[in-house]
Amino acid sequence: MNRVIAACNQKGGVGKTTTCVNLSAALAAMEKRVLLVDMDPQANSTQGLGFDVPFEEDIYDAMLLPDGEISKERVQRFIQKTSMAYLDIFPCSRSLAGLEVQLLQEEKRDRKLARLLEKIKEDYDFILIDSPPSLNILTLNVLTAADSVLIPIQCEYYALQGLAELLNTIRLVQQSTNPKLAIEGALLTMYDSRLNLSKQVVEDVKTTFSEKVFKTVIPRSVKLSEAPSFGKPIILYDVVSAGAVRYMELAKEVVDND
Ligand SMILES: Nc1ncnc2c1ncn2[C@@H]1O[C@H](COP(=O)(O)OP(=O)(O)OP(=O)(O)O)[C@@H](O)[C@H]1O
Ligand SMILES: [Mg+2]
Repeated sequence: MNRVIAACNQKGGVGKTTTCVNLSAALAAMEKRVLLVDMDPQANSTQGLGFDVPFEEDIYDAMLLPDGEISKERVQRFIQKTSMAYLDIFPCSRSLAGLEVQLLQEEKRDRKLARLLEKIKEDYDFILIDSPPSLNILTLNVLTAADSVLIPIQCEYYALQGLAELLNTIRLVQQSTNPKLAIEGALLTMYDSRLNLSKQVVEDVKTTFSEKVFKTVIPRSVKLSEAPSFGKPIILYDVVSAGAVRYMELAKEVVDND
């Protein structure tokens, strides 16, 4: 069964991109066919997989395609192969920021991404979507196109701030454009076992999400923050590092969630 999982949290710097890149790579290493969709204007997922040149066409152009021009072949032309056999990317190479304004003039503007992914969904076992640190029209497109939401939460003070707003947005999308949208799970990131604060956040998140918290906790690790500057996911940068091991464990959990 194929699944579309969106990493969402309007809080910035909580590990959405790190999770998208490394979970995608870990699933691909398990020989799952994976597509990573970069819906963040910062294009960090695209860069994190080693792409640093602008593309002739990217997701910005794809989002503005008229309905009549969308076919499987047309959508496939946007997709790039990566250095991993089972991992492809739907890249972003310039600011999607202008896209927001352009989308405002369009009909069914929340469904632009969904109608693209529908065409290629069967080519993949997993489609992961990286999203921007905001609750805007791009995020609504992400939540409308997704089957489930993975919520990375940084083990830090203020970690839960804004979560009510995110959960409320998810509820609104469930009531309107995407009734089947589920919560995949909350993922604790940048955990530091030396800090009591980290332990407190874990407890608070478990209270908020009850059973919907991944057993795997992502530790704070320098290797995880270095890997993107080499354009590599952690399993290609340092496969024995704690970060690589944890993201492999997370991939197994996600597969077992099926
Ligand atoms: N487990 C970790 N250990 C150490 N550093 C991390 C870890 N996860 C992420 N980082 C670093 O923290 C910063 C923010 O992470 P990331 O870019 O994944 O967050 P984000 O939620 O995608 O941010 P944004 O909201 O800006 O898109 C990055 O510099 C990243 O390398
Ligand atoms: Mg990001």
